Amino acid sequence: MRKINFFDTTLRDGEQSPGVNLNTQEKMTIAKQLEKLGVNIMEAGFPASSPEDFNAVKEIAQTIKSCSVTGLARSVKGDIDSAWEALKAGAEPRIHIFIATSDIHLKHKLKKTREQVLEQAVAMVKYAKQKFPIVQWSAEDACRTDLPFLAKIVSDVIDAGADVINLPDTVGYLAPAEYGHIFRYMKEHVPNLDRVKLSAHCHNDLGMAVANSLAAIENGADQVESVINGIGERAGNASLEELAVALYIRKDFYQVESTIQLDQIKRTSDLVSELTGMAVPRNKAVVGVNAFAHESGIHQDGFLKEKTTYEIISPELVGVKTDALVLGKHSGRHAFKDKLQNLGFQFAEAETNRLFGIFKELTGKKKEFSDEDLISLILEEKAIDGKIGYDFISLQVHYGTAQVPTATVSLRDQKTERIIQEAATGAGSVEAIYNTLKRCIEKEVQLLDYRIQSNRKGQDAFAQVYVRVMMNGRESGGRGVAQDVLEASAKAYINAVNRFLIFQSNAERLSKKAAVGS
Ligand code: KIV
Ligand code: ZN
Repeated sequence: MRKINFFDTTLRDGEQSPGVNLNTQEKMTIAKQLEKLGVNIMEAGFPASSPEDFNAVKEIAQTIKSCSVTGLARSVKGDIDSAWEALKAGAEPRIHIFIATSDIHLKHKLKKTREQVLEQAVAMVKYAKQKFPIVQWSAEDACRTDLPFLAKIVSDVIDAGADVINLPDTVGYLAPAEYGHIFRYMKEHVPNLDRVKLSAHCHNDLGMAVANSLAAIENGADQVESVINGIGERAGNASLEELAVALYIRKDFYQVESTIQLDQIKRTSDLVSELTGMAVPRNKAVVGVNAFAHESGIHQDGFLKEKTTYEIISPELVGVKTDALVLGKHSGRHAFKDKLQNLGFQFAEAETNRLFGIFKELTGKKKEFSDEDLISLILEEKAIDGKIGYDFISLQVHYGTAQVPTATVSLRDQKTERIIQEAATGAGSVEAIYNTLKRCIEKEVQLLDYRIQSNRKGQDAFAQVYVRVMMNGRESGGRGVAQDVLEASAKAYINAVNRFLIFQSNAERLSKKAAVGS
């Protein structure tokens, strides 16, 4: 059967989702899980875009060995050099260079002629090929590009040394039949196309990213670029889990196979959702909590008689555990450590002991810990590093039907170690908490979105709260986990503020560096 390569871009295009801002440690945690998931290529970032991205790509390339790590670069020497410095220690260094090819982009963005773009694309592929064994070339906005021009530039960059040709639907504009046609057209009009792999990269503006990627496979694409949970610029990118499961369940139709370990899908989805602060919609295909729930009486009746009446994907296939082994208050250090390792976390002895202490304390309040609960706990304890932002210390809320809700919060300023305590009221308990936090933080924070999700069924499930806030004209997302929903709400807000402060401090550092350099 034909092999389809999965190129994951969660850490690059996915990270471009508004409000998402992963630090190196968080990117590395996701990269290790993507390796377990069995992706063939992972795009770890855009090295020339910032020193943080450069370092994250470099560390990931040095660590991940069973798949190829790549980084994005514009078609300029500086970006290619920086990508090489970040990726050269990788197991299979690969660069992803792009240049826009549509007339709209040429006229309004690049202000170049087709001839100039052709010349630049060829020159930069040649330059990259002197360093990298594998060069992937992308025609940004390929789908709104004049097809004869697209065929010409593709043919010329192949002669210049490109190994993979990617044809993105950058703005998510085409219908599946049209996107498939572009791949057929290339096969018919590019004489040297047999020397390269063809790749699809689809955005979801019209909700067709997955359908378009499948149409590309039907028409000869050997690689699909996708993102966990379908996050990404604007409406997001094609969702990796939907593509992988569609190819597996409909193998009879697509006649292709991949290396994706389907039973790692749920864990990967949970991890990405928790670290990016982007909740998975309940009805999302494959990974939404409703994906395996049967509600109507007729469906339940049929399902109980024979699962296949209403279920085409079994929860176990994608790693959704129906009777997962849980840890509880009687579990010892050994079981705890084993469980962490099974979940893919490896910490030094002292750190494991610290986490075990926190776990033991929590078992006083919560009887059972599922895998998801543990992942939440670990990420909560380790997500943000550095001395920027605030630590949550305590929260007290007074609520009564005949009283004005009042909250008292204590925080520690990580930089000064100062304890800040404030109180405020609000129309409801959450508003009282957020009004209090605003006083503690003394900054303009506008709440854009607030969502609660429970980790699993049961009275003692952990609450996860996701918020999006606007600070200084920039969106920032945060996540908070706790047994109590009000505590989770406070932690999510602080997490979003901390992420913004980390971003701001990085930006200030960069502009100071630029000022010194100029
Ligand atoms: O959508 C797009 O065109 C991209 C390119 C940079 C590959 O993400
Ligand atoms: Zn894209």
